[in-house]
Amino acid sequence: MITKSTIDKVYETARVEEVIGDFVQLKKSGSNFKGLSPFTDERTPSFMVSPVKQIWKDFSSGKGGNVVAFLMEHEHLTYPEAIRYLAKKYQIEVEETQRTEEEKEKASERESMLLVTEYARDFYSDCLWNTEPGKAIGLSYFRERGFSDDTIRTFQLGYNPDQWDVFTKAALEKGYQLEFLDKTGLTIVKPAEGDREERRFDRFKGRVLFPIHSLSGRVLGFGGRTLSADKKTAKYLNSPESDIYHKSKVLYGISIAKQAIAREDRCYLVEGYTDVIQLYQAGIENVVASSGTALTPEQIRLVRRLTQNFTVLFDGDAAGLRASLRGVDLILEEGMNVRVCTFPAGEDPDSFARKHSRDAIEAYLQENSRDFIQFKTALLSEEAAQDPIKRAEMIRDIVASISRIPDRIKREVYVQECASLMGISEDVLFNTLAQMGRKRQQDAARKPERSEMEVVRPEPQEQKVDVQYELERKLIEVLLLYGTQTETFEDMLLKENEAGELVMEPELHEARVFEKVYLDLQQDEIELSHEGFRKVYYRLIDRMNADEAFDINQFMQELEPEAAREISSILMDEEKYELHQWERKDIFPRPKRDGLAQLVTETILSLRSHLIRKRIQHLRQDTESQLADTNREVLEEIVNYLQLNKLLNQKLNRIIPC
Ligand code: CTP
Ligand code: MN
Repeated sequence: MITKSTIDKVYETARVEEVIGDFVQLKKSGSNFKGLSPFTDERTPSFMVSPVKQIWKDFSSGKGGNVVAFLMEHEHLTYPEAIRYLAKKYQIEVEETQRTEEEKEKASERESMLLVTEYARDFYSDCLWNTEPGKAIGLSYFRERGFSDDTIRTFQLGYNPDQWDVFTKAALEKGYQLEFLDKTGLTIVKPAEGDREERRFDRFKGRVLFPIHSLSGRVLGFGGRTLSADKKTAKYLNSPESDIYHKSKVLYGISIAKQAIAREDRCYLVEGYTDVIQLYQAGIENVVASSGTALTPEQIRLVRRLTQNFTVLFDGDAAGLRASLRGVDLILEEGMNVRVCTFPAGEDPDSFARKHSRDAIEAYLQENSRDFIQFKTALLSEEAAQDPIKRAEMIRDIVASISRIPDRIKREVYVQECASLMGISEDVLFNTLAQMGRKRQQDAARKPERSEMEVVRPEPQEQKVDVQYELERKLIEVLLLYGTQTETFEDMLLKENEAGELVMEPELHEARVFEKVYLDLQQDEIELSHEGFRKVYYRLIDRMNADEAFDINQFMQELEPEAAREISSILMDEEKYELHQWERKDIFPRPKRDGLAQLVTETILSLRSHLIRKRIQHLRQDTESQLADTNREVLEEIVNYLQLNKLLNQKLNRIIPC
């Protein structure tokens, strides 16, 4: 491990503007530097670096953080790798904490295992391309499956000849030790018995091989597929668990897919080796496989460094679907956004990708991916249509999924959504949610020692949050941080169609954030309900309107102490949030926020939708206490509001879960 004093020295010495300057062309702009976002394809610079605060912020992608976060985001380095990178750049000597002899031995043992595994990859690959049986059997198999030579090389596929110990002999001859051939499982060693000598066999005899890589591209193990049609031999044989290969911690394809995952800001998850390869060859490069097992938290964390967005691709057969859905809850629990896409009956991603062009595949994924909670709700609703007991089960099942989501506001939105999809009152769902929260707390209290592998996260509080307060506060935050920026907004204009129904039509326009906020709220005659927020809101709007070069510090100085306190606490919270997230996520960069326009729209829409719901509730109470004939007007009003709210929610759904 790197010592704390080395880490401190690195932080003291490294200059964020210098480090980023190696990757992004920066221009001085006031006290900051400005450049084109290295994370998106933008034309007007929105990437800011502050030498004073030693932080950076990319307004087009929402990413930001300190110098280490930049290297982790941009270069996909791990934390220690980033520290080492900086140490090298600034010629700081890296001190390691003293390692015990045992630890040193372990480390060199692992290294020996990695070396012999990499030798195996080269050997298998050489056999595939350069030997007669390799070409006739292995290579022709891959080609028949539709893999191009380039693809075969990219994935470093190979072949182990169908003889007892060709590989083992070659490795020993090269000077690799039997100990490590054994420990990596490449060779199976049968100890001497009676007058029989010790025997050695190639584990992957007669199989084609799929090397399994670490994120940084080292070979950790192999998946070996048999070519014989004999039902008795296992189709796939994998490297056994070892000091270097842990099945639960690897994702097949991750080292090849990582750039594309970050670039596309999405990771497709499939089941098998061939699904990954076939999709990759078709041009969908941001894809990894869990290798036929349920996903683990470690695997999800591998991806979380690259994106927050997962799409799980399921085979056509519905049989395993329900069981597989369970694994997906884990992804929700890690705070990621999950979408689901199924393939037509009888197809898996492999067969589908082989038959279609890249454009067709992309179009299919686009059209058929659905938000996980919506997908699950629809699927289970179908199954439980008329059976009340099944229905109750299903509600618990879905709420269980929702309860995994760490973000409170997101949970609320999903509850509303599911209530309307299933035709159940929100209160029922909230109660179930609360019950589950309590139960989990009790369970947690009962078994205090959890294994290290388990994800421990603070129990979500299931009481209803003061949504309005949160949303108003968010709105002020958005104004403070981004108010004067210009963005392109997609506005949904409410129009009446020929049949007299309200419909929404999209329209693009440019506006500064504060203008958008102000006009939208004014249109609905919305007033912020919390006095502190309301005051600050009007002053902010006034100032931003009057002064192009709005300066937040100056604004703060002019405020009366009470309001200033409110604002600093909002700004501090923003930072605290960042720190908090960082801790929880082992100093991974904070989760990406969607585009700014989206954030603004989302906040306004949520607030509008919330207020309308309140209004409906209010009206409903009125109808209960009024005479029948005045009721009708009120009921009509309710219906109108319900319709409006549905439209708003449609718009929100498109924005929020993605
Ligand atoms: N798998 C495994 N061990 C097995 C069977 C499957 O490790 N005995 C893993 C492999 O990673 C495999 C994935 O589960 O890729 C999916 O299994 P399957 O659908 O049977 O394999 P495919 O990849 O579709 O293989 P193929 O198309 O070559 O039959
Ligand atoms: Mn298959």
